[in-house]
Amino acid sequence: MMKPQAITLRQIDDAAHILRSGGVVALPTETVYGLAARADNADAVEKIFAAKNRPAINPLICHVSSIEMAKTLVEFDMLAIKLVEKFWPGALTLVLPKKNGTVDQAVSAGLETLAVRMPAHEGMLSIIEAVGAPLAAPSANRSGRMSPTLASHVARDMEDKIDMIIDGGPTKFGLESTVIAVRDGDVTILRHGAIALEDIEAVLGFKVSEVTTAKTPQSPGQLLRHYAPKTKLVLHSQKGEVQLGFGTGGTRDLSPSRNLQEAASNLFSMLEELDQMGAKEIHIATIPHEGVGVAINDRLKRAATSVAKS
Ligand code: TXA
Ligand code: MG
Repeated sequence: MMKPQAITLRQIDDAAHILRSGGVVALPTETVYGLAARADNADAVEKIFAAKNRPAINPLICHVSSIEMAKTLVEFDMLAIKLVEKFWPGALTLVLPKKNGTVDQAVSAGLETLAVRMPAHEGMLSIIEAVGAPLAAPSANRSGRMSPTLASHVARDMEDKIDMIIDGGPTKFGLESTVIAVRDGDVTILRHGAIALEDIEAVLGFKVSEVTTAKTPQSPGQLLRHYAPKTKLVLHSQKGEVQLGFGTGGTRDLSPSRNLQEAASNLFSMLEELDQMGAKEIHIATIPHEGVGVAINDRLKRAATSVAKS
């Protein structure tokens, strides 16, 4: 299996130079590839929305290189501190009350909250440090497409729209970060992701509530079409011509040994490969609904109900 690859000092230098002067750079994180720009530069942030064709109502995650940097952007309460001390650097994004005047309004889509994350990726952390400012970075796919887990996915989606792509090999987790909101002692999950909810609940010592069916979406991204392949997906099936298995063989098998982490890291790239085959349907085996399997099933359900028109 392919491994993530380290990025060079030269790449870090070049990326930092472009970002400092207001450019946009696609770079690897431990979850998926991100499309980064200085969060404090309105023109740079606008370039992200344009390259992704992302609706302005969908806010971006601010990536920081330390807890201290995050504290300049948002208000931490005791629960939030407890969570970042345990999970940062890592695949946990926290939505917290925003401090004013720090990042461009467009980053948080005008909300009073801001999403922050310190990624567990040496190269990306070095770039944030070299720029000396937080980086706004959504996944580096065009809006409505699957998140990129390889530099080649980014190139295909948006090479001509951005200033640089850093190839760091396949991303470690292959699934986006878990997004939770912490407010007034209340914790809600906005997006299942690379860190399992059970692990977060174990640290908190209580159950986290879900808001996935709320009338007013707390996470605007919840309402948008997402992760859509061109081919129709048939879940809980192993019958069709093109199959995505889970320890069951098939055209591709997410994890022959039924390991959910491995399945998560293969999910988007295998779906992408099967999508390119031009079949009528992709039949997908049942994935256990536990641990990171919850996030995998969430992505599959969205992908199955929102087939791209293009
Ligand atoms: O793993 C990840 O999180 C990747 C890497 C690059 O860090 N980033 C990523 O960003 O997946 P994006 O923009 O594709 O997804 C961020 C999600 C969206 O669903 C967005 O609506 C939500 O986080 N979000 C961002 N800021 C928010 C806020 N202030 N309140 C509620 N939801 C927010
Ligand atoms: Mg995304």
